[in-house]
Amino acid sequence: MAGAMNEPFTIAVDGPAAAGKGTISRALAARFDMGHLDTGLLYRVVGALTLTGVDPVEAARGLTAKDLDRDDLRAPNVAQAASKVAVIAQVRAALVDFQRAFARRSGGAVLDGRDIGTVICPQAEVKLYVTASAEVRAQRRFLELRGKGLNVSRAQVLKDVRERDDRDMNRAAAPLRPAEDAVLLDTSQLNIDMAVAHAIAVVENKRQG
Ligand code: DC
Repeated sequence: MAGAMNEPFTIAVDGPAAAGKGTISRALAARFDMGHLDTGLLYRVVGALTLTGVDPVEAARGLTAKDLDRDDLRAPNVAQAASKVAVIAQVRAALVDFQRAFARRSGGAVLDGRDIGTVICPQAEVKLYVTASAEVRAQRRFLELRGKGLNVSRAQVLKDVRERDDRDMNRAAAPLRPAEDAVLLDTSQLNIDMAVAHAIAVVENKRQG
């Protein structure tokens, strides 16, 4: 089925940090030959710039696609900074057009984030809400960061995950929550292959109408 479509087709993948959104989104984009935008990177670029003293709203207004290639965006302090700038309504507003343009590109697009199905692309053809328990997500993030050689503790990673969940879910501007028509995918008990297979089945169902 890869490459079968030229018209826009948007897959929105939302959920909390480290639930598996990125892995699932990359796999969907590869399987259906679509573009993929990790929208968390937009907030991470803005967060990283604020750590060097740049005003967050100006950083968001000046963002370009090239900024997404920065190699410091996965660091834990940048993740926290991203979650903090993400509460600012003007920052979010400045990033809307970039995301919507990507979502409607020809051939289809997968966007993963927190508010794709609710705010950025409420008309998305497919909406997935990917989640897992905080403990499972922290353990995955811990292994990922350790694998990159970062010296983090399990307890600190769990604390970070909980803090970000709290901020992302309880902010006034576009809080993290499942869209009413989202398909829920809890990956707590699933390995990557099972989670990806489930997500592919959801998309195939929708594409077949
Ligand atoms: O997905 P991530 O961990 O890279 O996201 C980093 C932060 O950016 C996250 O804690 C909240 C924010 N974010 C957001 O508010 N809306 C999005 N669509 C994506 C990320």
